[in-house]
Amino acid sequence: MNAGAERDFDDLLMMLKETRGFDFTGYKRTTLQRRIGRRLETLRLQHYSEYRDYLEMEPEEFGRLFESLLINVTAFFRDPQAWQVLRRTVIPSLMNAKGTGKMIRVWSAGCATGEEAYSLAMAFAEELGVEEFGERVKIYATDLDEKALQIARAAVYSERQLTDVPDSLREKYFERVEGGLAFRRDLRRQLIFGRNDLTRDAPISRVDLLLARNTLMYFNTETQLSIVRRFHFALTDLGYLFLGKAEMLLNHADRFEPVDLRIRLFRKIGPRAGGRVAWPPDTGQRDTVEELRAAALAAGPVAQIALDGTGRLRLINSRAEALFNLNVRDAGRPFQDLEVSYRPVELRSVIQRVEQELRPAELRDVSWHRPGAAKADIFDILVVPLQRPGGELVGVIISFHDVTRYRMLRDELEQTNKALEHAYEELQSLNEELETTNEELQSTNEELETTNEELQSTNEELETINEELQSSNDELQHINDTLNSRSSDLDRANSFVASVVRSLGDAVTVVDDELRVLMWSPGAEELWGVRAEEVTGRHLSALDIGLPVDKIMGDLRRGIDGGPDAEGDQIVRITVDAVNRRGRAAKLDVDVFTLRKDDASVHGLILVMNLL
Ligand SMILES: C[S@@+](CC[C@H](N)C(=O)[O-])C[C@H]1O[C@@H](n2cnc3c(N)ncnc32)[C@H](O)[C@@H]1O
Repeated sequence: MNAGAERDFDDLLMMLKETRGFDFTGYKRTTLQRRIGRRLETLRLQHYSEYRDYLEMEPEEFGRLFESLLINVTAFFRDPQAWQVLRRTVIPSLMNAKGTGKMIRVWSAGCATGEEAYSLAMAFAEELGVEEFGERVKIYATDLDEKALQIARAAVYSERQLTDVPDSLREKYFERVEGGLAFRRDLRRQLIFGRNDLTRDAPISRVDLLLARNTLMYFNTETQLSIVRRFHFALTDLGYLFLGKAEMLLNHADRFEPVDLRIRLFRKIGPRAGGRVAWPPDTGQRDTVEELRAAALAAGPVAQIALDGTGRLRLINSRAEALFNLNVRDAGRPFQDLEVSYRPVELRSVIQRVEQELRPAELRDVSWHRPGAAKADIFDILVVPLQRPGGELVGVIISFHDVTRYRMLRDELEQTNKALEHAYEELQSLNEELETTNEELQSTNEELETTNEELQSTNEELETINEELQSSNDELQHINDTLNSRSSDLDRANSFVASVVRSLGDAVTVVDDELRVLMWSPGAEELWGVRAEEVTGRHLSALDIGLPVDKIMGDLRRGIDGGPDAEGDQIVRITVDAVNRRGRAAKLDVDVFTLRKDDASVHGLILVMNLL
């Protein structure tokens, strides 16, 4: 990332702090950049500055951003091996140390949606029994994320969230409610959920067991240091600290000692117990023993000197002689007159304290750069009071352990471990992010499945509609077939009628009772030179044809009015002079018949014309 982008990123963090009170500056930058990067990708934005503007315009994006930054991934009994050790070792040891009846205080720091806190409750209840758990255990569970805490407080989880809880525990500690399974109400009282910002708020106090799992790793080294200091303060002497599998306490060897490194279980270091060097027994062989002691001291691999009760140098071994430029002539001199009393470190006051308190003192990592040496050497200096069996002080012995090589190795190891730890933490947080991404993918998948189901149901509906359409189509086809067959019947009937009409005479026309043309045969078209559609519906007398209609009009009206004569339906045959379509004179017979309905009433006339 270039310098400009880094600046924009810092501005963005500052904006979150100033406008929303969320200070992410103590979090690992790489993690933050990756998580915010994902929001940018989702919103198709390129730069942090654009994202800042977006946040200003769309304040609800803050919620989505915090959700993405405060990675809430968690599970019941996460890392089962660690929970085994917790149940088998830590809880019994706590019960022992506490003695009967004393309250046990537990803190789940960064508890997310509560699964860890309820796992703790089940683990304690299983080891102590439900009743004693209810009387003696308080579990404080805190997080920065209010939304996650709401879920934790509700204590209702789905079947899927409970997959890692063994069936026996599920049956014992959960009851079915609407929307899932709820943690038992009577035991729920032992858990207290609250908001606590590990970077700012005061820790819970007098805690016997502190779980801060998979939470520290999101912070940078400096913030981790300050949080671990608070944890040290929060714990009772010899209290347990339980971290996530990616988390180590490399910089805190003075505050915590490992109990089981595989599962990241540590214990607070309490006040150290001191040891004493006993003076040899006062026997007849004392001289021999002292001689032996002096020889052993002289040959010892560690530089040592001993002072008597008056503060005079009495014993010097060969390594001390070489190291501090001392020799036998210095024996008997007051210690304070010797350079070794203040170089490499001020020892006079330490000796004084040791003599007063009758307790050993240790000065660690004393660096001494001797003139002419290429580099400084490191010593751990131990000052031990020498007492007679009755307790009377007879002097002190001072040992100078050269730990230069060991410290160098330790530093190298620490560096390597730190690099390893960083890589591991990165890996773990990446892993958690992947889990979140996986969950997001799962939810997208679920959405897709829902959409798919919706599509399936739409498809089924469409199939039903299709089937209905198909059956309507079949019906239509059937109707069509019927119509077609009727139409051919009709065609047949028509051609039959046409053939009948043709057989009646050269030209045939049918008129209604008002003498309007109803039918005009092809022969009539041929004879008069006008087409059926030109004459249909028109009055016979209005037609421009060569038939002298006026001459037959009287007969026609009579036929309409008079009804059938005695001889049948033929009214009259009239022979007329006409003019055909070519304008030639033509003589023809016109036979007029009545057209009757079923009730025999007349409703028109048939005119059959034959050329003579
Ligand atoms: C990955 S979860 C760990 C949950 C649980 N301890 C476990 O191991 O399953 C990390 C939790 O740390 C919380 N967290 C992040 N910053 C925090 C802060 N400054 N103070 C308290 N909790 C914080 C997040 O909200 C998130 O719920």
